[in-house]
Amino acid sequence: MPRTEHSGSPSVTRERSPPPSIEHVDTIAQAAAALPVDEVYNISLQNKERCHIYSMECYEQMYHRSIKDSDNFWRDIAMSTLRWLHPFTKVQGGDMHPEGDVSWFINGKLNVCDNCVDRWAEVAPERIAIIWEGDDPQHTQTITYKALLNRVCKFANMLKRLGVRRYDTVGIYMPMIPETIYAMLACARLGAIHSVVFAGFSAPNLRDRLIDAHCKIVITADQGIRGGKIIPLKNIMDEALKECPLVDTCVVFQHQGQAINWIEGRDVWGHEMLDGMRPYCPLEIMDSEDLLFMLYTSGSTGKPKGIAHSSAGYLLYTALTFKYVFDFHPGDIHACVADVGWITGHSYIVYGPLCNGATTVVFESVPMHPNPSRYWQLCERWRVSQFYTAPTAIRALMIHGTEWVENHDLSSLRVLGTVGEPINPEAWRWYYEVVGKSRCDIVDTYWQTETGGHMLTPLPGAIKCKPGSATRPFFGVEPVILDSKTGKPLHGNNVNGVLCFRRPWPGMMRTVYGDHERLLNVYLRPYPGYYFTGDGCVRDKDGYYWITGRVDDTINVSGHRLGSAEVEHALVQHKGCSEAAVVGYPHSVKGTGLFCFVTMNGDYEVHAGTTKELRDIVRKEIGPIATPDYILITPTLPKTRSGKIIRRLLRKIAASETDSLGDLSTLGEGGDQVVHTLIQEAKKLT
Ligand code: PRX
Repeated sequence: MPRTEHSGSPSVTRERSPPPSIEHVDTIAQAAAALPVDEVYNISLQNKERCHIYSMECYEQMYHRSIKDSDNFWRDIAMSTLRWLHPFTKVQGGDMHPEGDVSWFINGKLNVCDNCVDRWAEVAPERIAIIWEGDDPQHTQTITYKALLNRVCKFANMLKRLGVRRYDTVGIYMPMIPETIYAMLACARLGAIHSVVFAGFSAPNLRDRLIDAHCKIVITADQGIRGGKIIPLKNIMDEALKECPLVDTCVVFQHQGQAINWIEGRDVWGHEMLDGMRPYCPLEIMDSEDLLFMLYTSGSTGKPKGIAHSSAGYLLYTALTFKYVFDFHPGDIHACVADVGWITGHSYIVYGPLCNGATTVVFESVPMHPNPSRYWQLCERWRVSQFYTAPTAIRALMIHGTEWVENHDLSSLRVLGTVGEPINPEAWRWYYEVVGKSRCDIVDTYWQTETGGHMLTPLPGAIKCKPGSATRPFFGVEPVILDSKTGKPLHGNNVNGVLCFRRPWPGMMRTVYGDHERLLNVYLRPYPGYYFTGDGCVRDKDGYYWITGRVDDTINVSGHRLGSAEVEHALVQHKGCSEAAVVGYPHSVKGTGLFCFVTMNGDYEVHAGTTKELRDIVRKEIGPIATPDYILITPTLPKTRSGKIIRRLLRKIAASETDSLGDLSTLGEGGDQVVHTLIQEAKKLT
């Protein structure tokens, strides 16, 4: 990305999305060729008969009905799973064509908070809804459904007092504490749309998201703490709010208690205000299609997209996938150790579990704090039944050996899940054997922020696993593999192309907040009639699906999607940087690491600290998750004759695959030499 003047406001580039660049799609074939050899695990739970979906036949029957008799399938499930304040009149409208706007449970009225809190507080008031474990394992809280209702109502009354009304947007920039969950549910109760921003994002990132979401009120804490490290949330919020004129109220929760800056008239102490609130708050009657929340995710351009989800469809889909994929039964303790700043936290810490009346663990810490047995201590202590994490965490833990796992009683575990990126078979086996003692089901769940819930996944008791494959589609999901160049469906097995979905499912995103065209351009127009995931995929000889990686310019680092354009935009903020190109390369723990190729202005003198400055600027602009692994400062980048950077070559150089560089004829004059130099420099760096 060439250097642009930093205006302080988000870029307004519109994302036009032709089918993905062919050069990148070419890598799919290679990724497919590298798939692991077939290895089938026929895991079943010790009490297989206990599983909801207890056999492959049972799965196939239900799947068949979900496709062939879709309306009745979803009508029955929607009626039995959710509490409706007014029944819907039509199950589904629209299709995957750009003009075919998708909607579900049309004219139905409900309240998401009522479904997640009130109805459980009525039937099981003393059941534990939330188990909170702080960064310091000594700090814990358990919150019953009755207490949850009380706190959410107080929270909702506070927001009302502060002027929040239905359809307002509320920014949430919070640590993993119970108040964060209350805030989300209180918004749902009032019909306000929440926009949670991951508390590891920097001030510029937070600012852009608050502006784009039109937030007038934000909720934060004095500081967060993760792995013993303080995150100055309120300071970061103050910095972001300098450029958010719309925000007039900042609610602050005291968490760490260190002194903070205070702006009279704008800042209010949340805990003090809550004390004065009545614990009864009527709920708003919302339409099925009213937006519940938006969550920003990276795209191919520098501007993140506010992925917006509906109330009924999203809730039903997360509730159903939660029940079947984790084989949830009353009494189970579910621990999803993601952060609520990501979709995994929204769907499988908050909405999916609570809509099932489950007990959900809210975990503030990190896997290595204070040592690599933290997850297993958590599982033993709370008798966790389902544990859900990312492959990157498993790989990081594997390095420390098995002894950190072995000292713990993990007999309560039944289902172990992974999400966010393909899991390599070695990590899969470790999870299965060392953590699961070869008796727990492993569910490798493939999905996206945009899909709301799981799309391809094994089901305990029914679907055999192959390490590295997300196996089969969930109910109602119709995956199609298209030839990336012709856009034609590839029928049968043993095919390799791009992954699309043919029919709408209830959890599908409804819009990009404030920019509906972007939904059409990015997801629906590339292959008309299909939802395009942006992922390459293989369907193997047994009809199993294997994700081969992103085919657009996004990079999946530790299970978090980053846009190369975002990182490039950050790098060119350095006063000396003239151009940057960022690509992913295989990383043993993160899955994919960031390799940045950077050219500096002719009059800039590169010095020993330049690389650090560049790295720091990315951390400052985006946040620590985007920290570059390698920065290679080079006089020039390989380009076509028309001046386009050839990223395909940079990916090869970053991955040290220089004996298969492919066609070099598109390189401009002197390009061969540029590539040769880059190969040498990259070798020195890595
Ligand atoms: O590339 C796929 C990868 O993560 C992307 C979605 O990222 P995000 O919206 O941030 O959501 C992550 C959590 C749902 C997908 O397009 N991905 C996610 N799960 C898997 C995966 N790739 C392979 N296997 C998975 N299980």
